Amino acid sequence: MPLKFFISAFLFCSIFFTVSAQQKTWSNKVDSVLHLMTLEEKIGQLNQYTDDLTLTGPATVDNDKASQIKNGQVGSLLNSLGTTRVRSWQTMAMQSRLKIPLLFGQDVIHGYKTTFPIPLAEAASWDMDAIELSARIAATEASASGINWTFAPMVDIARDPRWGRVMEGAGEDTYLGSLIAKARVTGFQGKKLGGLDAVMACVKHFAAYGAAVGGRDYNSVDMSERQLWEVYLPPFKAALDAGAATFMNSFNDVNGIPATGNAYLQRTILKGKWNFTGFVVSDWGSIGEMVNHGYVKNDYEAALSAIRAGSDMDMESRSYKNNLAKLVKDNKIPVSLIDDAVKRILLKKFELGLFDDPFRFCNTTREQQALNNAAHVKAARAIAAKSIVLLKNENHLLPLSKSTKTIAFIGPLVKPLLQNKGFWDVTIPGVDSNFIVSQWKGLQNKVGASSTLLYAKGCDIEGDNKAGFAEAIAIAKQADVVILSIGEKRDMSGEAKSRSNINIPGVQEDLLKELLATGKPVVVLINAGRPLVFNYTADHAPAILYTWWLGSEAGNAIADVLFGDVNPSAKLPMTFPLSVGQVPIYYNHFNTGRPATNDNNHIYNSSYTDLSIFPKYAFGYGLSYTDFKYSDLKISKNKMTAKDQIDVAVTITNTGKYDGEEVVQLYLHNKVASVVRPIKELKDFQKIQIATGASKTIHFQINAQKLSFYNQQLAWVTEPGDFELMIGSSSADIRLKTEFELVK
Ligand code: NOJ
Repeated sequence: MPLKFFISAFLFCSIFFTVSAQQKTWSNKVDSVLHLMTLEEKIGQLNQYTDDLTLTGPATVDNDKASQIKNGQVGSLLNSLGTTRVRSWQTMAMQSRLKIPLLFGQDVIHGYKTTFPIPLAEAASWDMDAIELSARIAATEASASGINWTFAPMVDIARDPRWGRVMEGAGEDTYLGSLIAKARVTGFQGKKLGGLDAVMACVKHFAAYGAAVGGRDYNSVDMSERQLWEVYLPPFKAALDAGAATFMNSFNDVNGIPATGNAYLQRTILKGKWNFTGFVVSDWGSIGEMVNHGYVKNDYEAALSAIRAGSDMDMESRSYKNNLAKLVKDNKIPVSLIDDAVKRILLKKFELGLFDDPFRFCNTTREQQALNNAAHVKAARAIAAKSIVLLKNENHLLPLSKSTKTIAFIGPLVKPLLQNKGFWDVTIPGVDSNFIVSQWKGLQNKVGASSTLLYAKGCDIEGDNKAGFAEAIAIAKQADVVILSIGEKRDMSGEAKSRSNINIPGVQEDLLKELLATGKPVVVLINAGRPLVFNYTADHAPAILYTWWLGSEAGNAIADVLFGDVNPSAKLPMTFPLSVGQVPIYYNHFNTGRPATNDNNHIYNSSYTDLSIFPKYAFGYGLSYTDFKYSDLKISKNKMTAKDQIDVAVTITNTGKYDGEEVVQLYLHNKVASVVRPIKELKDFQKIQIATGASKTIHFQINAQKLSFYNQQLAWVTEPGDFELMIGSSSADIRLKTEFELVK
C-alpha cells in the first residue's frame, strides 16, 4: 500500500481514509496532508537546496542537509544526478514524520545524457515537431535518472547577443518564441504529468530577464508596459497555456522592483489574470539577493517581500527557512499565505505520483536503457543537422563530393569532444564524453577510406599564438578542399557569460586569411552560442555554416550537411549584427519619424554616421543547397472584418538541383494605428519539403488575432485600417507583397 511511505503510524488511519479515496480530487488530498503539517514542516516544503555534487550558482554550505531532510525541512533538491543518488536522498525524506517526497530539479536544458543542440540552435530549425521531440527525449532520459522537474524552457526574448544566455532561449521573435515555448513544454511534460517519462517544465525567467541593460547578466530591466505585454510576456503565456507546471522568477528588477519580490508580475499577472495554479520557484538565491538590490534591508524583509509577491519556493537563499516562522509569529504574514504556497507544491507532488511511489523515477534498469539510447542518438543527429544554418555558399561549393580526394580539416574545434555540447550539460567528463562524436570523427565516419583526411589545429580559440599556422597552411596546400572549424569556447556563452566583444576570438580569422591565400576553397564552420561578429569571414570565405553547439552528435550532423546527405534548412532566430555597436538590433522595430533607408545618407535621419544600419544577417535568413522561387501570391479578399478570415495562397517552386526544405515566412505591417506598429512582424510560417523541380501551393489564414495589438490603454484590440502582407524567405528577403484592409 503506497500510503505507508509517507504516513507515520500515528497518523496512518486518518490520512488513509482521506487520501486513498481515488475519487477525491487532488485538492482534497493536498488539504488533508496540509492539515497534518506543523508550521515548520510547511516551511520545509518551500525550501530547496542544491546537492553538493554540482553547483549552478554561488556555493553555499550546509553540513546537515541530510538531517534537515529527515526532519521534513526540505521540499526539493536540485542538481542530484542519477537514480542511486536520488534514491538515497528520497530514502531520507521517507524517514521524516510525514514522509512527504522530495522533488528533484535539474537544468535539463538541451538534452540529458543524449545532448541536443543548444536551444537557440534548435530554434533555428523552425521545426516544432523536432523541438518537441528533443524535449520529449530529454524528459525520457532525465525521468529515468531520478529527475522529475527541469528548469526549462527559458522563454526570455533576447535582442542583445552580448547577453550570454541568448543560447538558452529561442531568440528575438515573440511569435516564434511562443510556438517554441509550447513545443518544449509539451515535450517535457509528455501526455500528462504523472507519466513515468514526464518531468515538470519550469518556464523561466519571469519576467523580462532577456532585456538586461547592456546585455549584462543579472542586470536591471527598464521596460515599458507595452513592451512587456507585447514582446516579453507572450511566450510565458504560451507555455502556461501548454500546461507548464511551474515558473521560475528572475534575478533582475523590472522598473525598480526585483522580479522575485514583484507582486504585479507574480500575483496580479501570473496567478491572477492568468490563473496559474502551479508554483513559482525563485532563481538561485534571488530572494536573499533583494538585499543587494537595495529593495529590502535584510533577509527577514526579503522573505516577507517574496512570499507576499507570490514566490512559492526558495531556491538556495535560505531566507524562507530562516525567517518565515518569525514572520508568522510577528503577525507580518498570515499562515494562509504559506499554506497557499505549500498547497501548490504538494499538488505537483501528487500529480507526479510521488505520494504513490516516491521512488518511481529511480529504476536503475530503466535508467540504463534510456540514457544514450540508440533512438535518442538518432534523433539528436537529425535535429542537429536541422539546426545548422548555411550562411554563404559561393559557386555552390557545398555540398562537398564524397569522392573528394584530400580534405584538410583545420581548427581548434575539430578534435575536442566536450566543446560540442555548449553551455548547460550534465556530462561527467571521461564517462559521458565517450558518447560525443567529434567533428573529426564525424568526417571520418562520412568519408571512410575514400578520402585522405589531414588535420592541423592551426591555433587556439583565444590568444595570439600563430605558431600552428605553418602546419595548417602546409596541409591546406596538399588538399582539394579545406574545412576550417572556428568560433567561441562553449562556456563563452551561457549564464554569467556576457561579453562586450562578440568578434570571433583570438587569431582564428587571421588563420582563415592565410588559408584563403593558398587559393584552396575554404568552408568555414562557426561554432558559437550566440550571434558573433565575423565580417572578414563573411566577406571572404566562399562557404559558411553556422553550427552553433550541436550536442552529442555534432560531428555526424556537420558531416551530413557538408556532404549533402542533409540539405540545410535552418533560419536565424536572431539578427546577426555587423558590429556590436548596432546592438540591440532586431528586425521588428518601429519606423521612427525619420527612418533611414540606406547607408549613404545620414542627414537628420535615424542612422549611424560611422556604421551601417543594416545587420550582417537578418532574422529569418538561411540558405539551402537548392533555390526556391516564390510566385502567385493570392489573397481570398482584400477587405475583411474582425470576424472574417483571409486565405493567403502562395506557390513555392524548387528550382535548384536538390530536394530541400524552405521556411516560408509571413510578415504583417499595420500601416497606421492608434499606437505605432513595427515595420513588420512575423505572424506565421510554414516549413515545407519540396522535391527538386516540384511546386507546392501553401495556405495561411489571416484572422483578427493576427491583426490585434495593445492600444494606448493596453487593451488587446483590432482597429480598422490597411495592412501590408509580406511573404519572404527571411525578414529582409521579402519576395511577394500585397495589401488588404480590415473594415468595421
Ligand atoms: C540560475 C539560473 O538563472 C537558472 O536558470 C537555473 O535554472 C538555476 N540557476 C538553477 O541552476
